[in-house]
Amino acid sequence: MSADVSTARESLEQDAARALPGLLSRSYARYSKFTVAAAVIDEDGRVHYGVNVENAAYPVGTCAEQTAIGAMITAGGARVIDKVLIAAGSDAVVQPCGACRQRIAEFAGQTCEIVSVQGGETTERIAFWSLLPHSFGPRDLD
Ligand code: THU
Repeated sequence: MSADVSTARESLEQDAARALPGLLSRSYARYSKFTVAAAVIDEDGRVHYGVNVENAAYPVGTCAEQTAIGAMITAGGARVIDKVLIAAGSDAVVQPCGACRQRIAEFAGQTCEIVSVQGGETTERIAFWSLLPHSFGPRDLD
Protein backbone atom coordinates (compact mmCIF):
# COMPACT_ATOMS: atom_id res chain seq x y z
CA MET A 1 0.00 0.00 0.00
CA SER A 2 1.44 3.44 -0.94
CA ALA A 3 2.15 6.07 1.75
CA ASP A 4 -0.71 8.25 0.40
CA VAL A 5 -3.22 5.43 0.57
CA SER A 6 -2.18 4.37 4.05
CA THR A 7 -2.39 7.98 5.34
CA ALA A 8 -5.87 8.28 3.82
CA ARG A 9 -6.86 5.00 5.52
CA GLU A 10 -5.59 6.26 8.86
CA SER A 11 -7.63 9.46 8.67
CA LEU A 12 -10.67 7.43 7.59
CA GLU A 13 -10.22 5.30 10.69
CA GLN A 14 -9.84 8.38 12.87
CA ASP A 15 -13.00 9.97 11.43
CA ALA A 16 -14.95 6.75 12.02
CA ALA A 17 -13.63 6.52 15.61
CA ARG A 18 -14.72 10.10 16.29
CA ALA A 19 -18.21 9.38 14.91
CA LEU A 20 -18.88 6.33 17.09
CA PRO A 21 -19.60 7.98 20.48
CA GLY A 22 -22.29 10.12 18.83
CA LEU A 23 -23.98 6.99 17.48
CA LEU A 24 -24.26 5.33 20.89
CA SER A 25 -27.42 7.33 21.64
CA ARG A 26 -29.09 5.70 18.61
CA SER A 27 -28.50 2.21 20.02
CA TYR A 28 -31.69 0.45 21.08
CA ALA A 29 -30.46 -1.19 24.27
CA ARG A 30 -33.73 -1.07 26.17
CA TYR A 31 -33.03 -4.26 28.14
CA SER A 32 -29.31 -4.46 28.80
CA LYS A 33 -28.70 -0.69 28.77
CA PHE A 34 -25.35 -1.66 27.23
CA THR A 35 -25.00 0.54 24.17
CA VAL A 36 -22.58 -0.43 21.40
CA ALA A 37 -21.68 1.28 18.12
CA ALA A 38 -19.53 -0.26 15.39
CA ALA A 39 -17.99 0.87 12.14
CA VAL A 40 -17.00 -1.56 9.41
CA ILE A 41 -14.39 -0.18 7.01
CA ASP A 42 -14.35 -2.13 3.78
CA GLU A 43 -11.54 -2.73 1.33
CA ASP A 44 -12.82 0.11 -0.86
CA GLY A 45 -12.35 2.53 2.06
CA ARG A 46 -16.05 2.92 2.70
CA VAL A 47 -17.37 3.15 6.25
CA HIS A 48 -20.57 1.40 7.36
CA TYR A 49 -22.05 2.06 10.78
CA GLY A 50 -24.26 0.03 13.09
CA VAL A 51 -25.61 -0.01 16.63
CA ASN A 52 -27.08 -2.81 18.72
CA VAL A 53 -30.83 -3.30 18.38
CA GLU A 54 -32.39 -5.30 21.20
CA ASN A 55 -35.77 -6.99 21.24
CA ALA A 56 -38.39 -7.98 23.84
CA ALA A 57 -37.73 -11.55 22.67
CA TYR A 58 -34.16 -11.30 23.98
CA PRO A 59 -32.33 -13.75 21.64
CA VAL A 60 -33.62 -11.89 18.59
CA GLY A 61 -31.58 -8.77 19.39
CA THR A 62 -28.75 -7.84 17.06
CA CYS A 63 -25.22 -6.67 17.84
CA ALA A 64 -23.76 -3.43 16.52
CA GLU A 65 -21.26 -5.36 14.38
CA GLN A 66 -24.09 -7.34 12.80
CA THR A 67 -26.00 -4.16 11.94
CA ALA A 68 -22.85 -2.61 10.43
CA ILE A 69 -22.16 -5.72 8.33
CA GLY A 70 -25.74 -5.56 7.05
CA ALA A 71 -25.14 -1.93 6.04
CA MET A 72 -21.95 -2.95 4.20
CA ILE A 73 -23.74 -5.66 2.26
CA THR A 74 -26.63 -3.34 1.46
CA ALA A 75 -24.17 -0.74 0.14
CA GLY A 76 -22.69 -3.25 -2.34
CA GLY A 77 -19.06 -3.07 -3.40
CA ALA A 78 -16.15 -5.32 -2.51
CA ARG A 79 -17.68 -6.79 0.66
CA VAL A 80 -14.26 -7.37 2.18
CA ILE A 81 -13.79 -6.10 5.73
CA ASP A 82 -10.55 -4.25 6.45
CA LYS A 83 -11.37 -3.04 9.98
CA VAL A 84 -14.10 -3.22 12.56
CA LEU A 85 -14.15 -0.38 15.08
CA ILE A 86 -16.12 -0.92 18.27
CA ALA A 87 -17.21 1.58 20.93
CA ALA A 88 -19.29 0.79 24.02
CA GLY A 89 -21.30 3.20 26.16
CA SER A 90 -19.30 1.92 29.14
CA ASP A 91 -16.21 3.26 27.33
CA ALA A 92 -14.47 -0.06 28.13
CA VAL A 93 -12.74 -2.16 25.47
CA VAL A 94 -15.29 -4.60 24.02
CA GLN A 95 -14.30 -7.42 21.69
CA PRO A 96 -16.86 -8.92 19.29
CA CYS A 97 -18.97 -11.75 20.74
CA GLY A 98 -18.54 -15.29 19.38
CA ALA A 99 -21.47 -15.01 16.99
CA CYS A 100 -20.13 -11.73 15.61
CA ARG A 101 -16.67 -13.24 15.14
CA GLN A 102 -18.32 -15.78 12.86
CA ARG A 103 -20.21 -13.02 11.04
CA ILE A 104 -17.04 -10.96 10.59
CA ALA A 105 -15.12 -14.07 9.42
CA GLU A 106 -17.49 -14.42 6.48
CA PHE A 107 -16.17 -11.14 5.02
CA ALA A 108 -12.84 -10.46 6.75
CA GLY A 109 -9.74 -9.84 4.66
CA GLN A 110 -6.46 -11.50 5.66
CA THR A 111 -5.21 -8.43 7.53
CA CYS A 112 -8.53 -7.48 9.09
CA GLU A 113 -8.22 -5.72 12.45
CA ILE A 114 -10.55 -5.15 15.37
CA VAL A 115 -9.98 -1.64 16.67
CA SER A 116 -11.24 -0.50 20.06
CA VAL A 117 -12.56 3.03 20.39
CA GLN A 118 -12.63 4.83 23.73
CA GLY A 119 -13.62 8.47 24.08
CA GLY A 120 -13.72 8.75 20.29
CA GLU A 121 -10.08 7.69 19.93
CA THR A 122 -8.64 4.36 18.81
CA THR A 123 -6.92 2.44 21.61
CA GLU A 124 -6.38 -1.33 21.36
CA ARG A 125 -5.89 -3.12 18.07
CA ILE A 126 -5.98 -6.86 17.46
CA ALA A 127 -5.64 -9.00 14.35
CA PHE A 128 -9.10 -10.40 13.66
CA TRP A 129 -7.92 -13.87 12.68
CA SER A 130 -6.19 -14.27 16.04
CA LEU A 131 -9.68 -14.08 17.58
CA LEU A 132 -11.10 -16.86 15.41
CA PRO A 133 -8.42 -19.29 14.25
CA HIS A 134 -9.32 -22.68 12.76
CA SER A 135 -12.73 -21.36 11.78
CA PHE A 136 -15.43 -22.79 9.59
CA GLY A 137 -16.09 -20.53 6.62
CA PRO A 138 -17.20 -20.12 3.03
CA ARG A 139 -14.25 -22.14 1.68
CA ASP A 140 -15.49 -25.23 3.51
CA LEU A 141 -18.59 -25.16 1.34
CA ASP A 142 -16.82 -24.64 -2.00
N1 THU B 1 -23.21 -6.27 21.97
C1 THU B 1 -22.83 -5.74 20.78
O1 THU B 1 -23.60 -5.05 20.10
N2 THU B 1 -21.58 -6.00 20.35
C2 THU B 1 -20.63 -6.67 21.06
O2 THU B 1 -19.52 -6.81 20.59
C3 THU B 1 -20.95 -7.21 22.37
C4 THU B 1 -22.37 -7.11 22.78
C5 THU B 1 -24.57 -5.95 22.47
C6 THU B 1 -25.56 -7.08 22.45
C7 THU B 1 -26.55 -6.61 23.50
O3 THU B 1 -27.46 -5.72 22.89
C8 THU B 1 -25.70 -5.82 24.48
O4 THU B 1 -24.48 -5.52 23.81
C9 THU B 1 -25.39 -6.57 25.76
O5 THU B 1 -24.87 -7.82 25.50
